[in-house]
Amino acid sequence: MADDAGIRPGEIKVELPQGFDAGLYFIGRIRTPWPTRDDCPKNGRESDAVCTIEVDPRYAAALAGVASSTHLLVLYWMDEARRDLVVQAPRHYGEPRGTFALRSPVRPNPIAASVVKLVQVEDLRLSVVGLDCRDGTPLIDLKPYFASTDAVPDAVVGWHAKR
Ligand SMILES: C[S@@+](CC[C@H](N)C(=O)[O-])C[C@H]1O[C@@H](n2cnc3c(N)ncnc32)[C@H](O)[C@@H]1O
Repeated sequence: MADDAGIRPGEIKVELPQGFDAGLYFIGRIRTPWPTRDDCPKNGRESDAVCTIEVDPRYAAALAGVASSTHLLVLYWMDEARRDLVVQAPRHYGEPRGTFALRSPVRPNPIAASVVKLVQVEDLRLSVVGLDCRDGTPLIDLKPYFASTDAVPDAVVGWHAKR
């Protein structure tokens, strides 16, 4: 049960730095069937819903060649996540763990990553499968997913494997 500040037993929060070290540009928005965080799947593999990535017209030329990829790495900004927890006890895992050992959106820089299947590209709209964010989440980058260099089939997350 969380306290008044939203902290669960075992969680640790820190004072964040006074200023930012860098800025970023949102390059578009992600349209999904999920209006709120609570409606979202826990990760992109849990749903086969088709979502739409809407890219800002300013970056139209940056999409040249994208349609030839079957899969993309999508980076997005979890704008509703708190940023001050260094130890977290996500509800579905229970036990507290360090933020950098988790895929939780709660982190100093709430950047989320998903590998998605690219279904269709129509002008500035990309239809994809494999996202887990609420409707309207800001997009920060798109990259081609290279199975040859990005995939590590025998990689292990020890604490998760033992569950
Ligand atoms: C566990 S995170 C995983 C994100 C990404 N696949 C990753 O691994 O970096 C996905 C969860 O973030 C939450 N979420 C979705 N959209 C959000 C947003 N705009 N701001 C904050 N949290 C969000 C939802 O609870 C969703 O189930």
